[in-house]
Amino acid sequence: MIWTILLLVLLIFILTNRWRSKGEPPLDKGAIPWLGHALEFGKDASKFINRMKMKHGDVFTVRVAGRYVTMLLDPHSYDTVLGDSDSLDFTRYAQVLMERIFRLHLPYSQQAKSKEIMKRHFVGMNLATLNSAMSRNLQALMKAKTTQNQKDWKEEGLFNFSYSLLFRAGYLMLFGGEQNNNPIDPSSVYEEYKKFDGLLVKMARGTLTQEEKKTAQSVQNKLWELLAPAGLTDDSGSSPWLHAYRQFLQEDGTDVEMQNRAILMQLWATQGNVGPAAFWLLGFLLTNPEALMAVKREFSQNTQMETTTGTPLMDSQVNTPVFDSALEEALRLTAAPFITREVVREKTLRMADGRQYLLRKGDRVCLFPYVSPQMDPEIYHEPQKYKYDRFLREDGSVKKDFYKGGKRLKYYTMPWGAGTNGCVGKQFAINTIRQFVYMVLTNYDLELCDPNAQMPEINASRYGFGMLQPEGDLPVRYKPRSTH
Ligand code: HEM
Ligand SMILES: *[C@@H]1O[C@H](CO)[C@@H](O)[C@H](O)[C@H]1NC(C)=O
Ligand SMILES: *[C@@H]1O[C@H](CO)[C@@H](O)[C@H](O)[C@H]1NC(C)=O
Repeated sequence: MIWTILLLVLLIFILTNRWRSKGEPPLDKGAIPWLGHALEFGKDASKFINRMKMKHGDVFTVRVAGRYVTMLLDPHSYDTVLGDSDSLDFTRYAQVLMERIFRLHLPYSQQAKSKEIMKRHFVGMNLATLNSAMSRNLQALMKAKTTQNQKDWKEEGLFNFSYSLLFRAGYLMLFGGEQNNNPIDPSSVYEEYKKFDGLLVKMARGTLTQEEKKTAQSVQNKLWELLAPAGLTDDSGSSPWLHAYRQFLQEDGTDVEMQNRAILMQLWATQGNVGPAAFWLLGFLLTNPEALMAVKREFSQNTQMETTTGTPLMDSQVNTPVFDSALEEALRLTAAPFITREVVREKTLRMADGRQYLLRKGDRVCLFPYVSPQMDPEIYHEPQKYKYDRFLREDGSVKKDFYKGGKRLKYYTMPWGAGTNGCVGKQFAINTIRQFVYMVLTNYDLELCDPNAQMPEINASRYGFGMLQPEGDLPVRYKPRSTH
């Protein structure tokens, strides 16, 4: 028995070990066979990548759980990765994650088509309809949180406050939720979804304990059940987008079980980042009174201008440079996706400064814009600090020129990814967050429970999965705004 295990370990060692070849990036395998740096990576990927950057510079290859990943951290060179979808494939790794997180197997060809369906509904003409539906839902849910003549403060964590409001509004609008004319309570979907969200990182990495596996399965089952009626019939209350998506899956021969899994994935794609992003922005505003004042001032100027259109600030065309800068700055500090591609054909990585490196077929390449450009002290003075007007010029117009090594950057912050696989929902998400912040500030008196409170720490286990989340929460209190 012991011999078999030893032999197996030796075999794995021989099969997965490797040495740096001429022309390849610096290789750091870590001390543990096969696993390599997986533990340190999982604990705090940002800290680990920064440590490696100090040691090796802005391009290096690390071993993580049997895979070799080349990290590229020079934003001047990002286009060589983003622009080459022939050698560097987006879909393959996305499918690995889809299987691990959603237990979803969809044919390769479906990804392009489902993205096209989403674009048709979330970009351009249809966006205005979505935005007004979203703001109606938000308004209704906000009203329901307080009673009309309520004089006392209600206390809640701001993260839960933001995430639950936006999730429920988005769920109602896109997924509906009527079953035999009985609406499914969006709060119960939110509660289940939160449990799922808490296990998501471990599912992606395949590090669930036996106990957690059971929980994950039962939460998935519940969510599939809750989502089963979504988009099926005309009276299910779902959006035209979901109807179109469901119909496409049916026509493509996807069985009902896989359809529901696919719909859970769409729930995550559409709801997983907006709530956390809105939390960070509102939190930074509340803890930076000057920023809050500036945003409020801009909002009130806009609402004075257009009193006729009903809900102010709903139109995407409304110009809000101060708000845009405040949001961009919040995202700079808290959006931390990995942009991962699989090397499907050997490739020479040509860096902007002329260096060249060979990439091996079967490896992965990963950009981590959070480390650079977003938190790079060469680009942003005091990068840890929230400065709401970083993306504004003296004259109040939008600032887009940022430099590294004396050269102007094309990518100075990348919360939405970039290139052909950049975020489809960007404009919808921005409009939603703007509408949400506006409504919170006009419907409620909202303040920190402790006026000297600081923002909570970042939960370090979530680096690489889109928007970060706080460790703990930021206690706030609110009541209906006294109208004079
Ligand atoms: C604050 C909110 C959001 C953030 C920070 C965000 C961020 C991102 C990022 C970083 C990517 C690129 C991944 C990569 O290149 O590897 C992405 C892709 C995507 N996002 Fe978002 N997103 C947000 C909201 C939304 C919303 C509301 C929707 C849908 C309505 C959406 C739909 C998508 C889709 C479909 C893709 C995949 C594109 C593809 O397959 O090529 N996102 N998002
Ligand atoms: C989170 O928000 C939901 C919905 O508003 C609420 O029912 C729940 O009590 C909140 N949870 C906490 C811990 O405040
Ligand atoms: C941090 O995130 C992980 C994964 O989502 C979660 O399991 C853990 O409870 C979070 N920690 C805190 C302190 O919130």
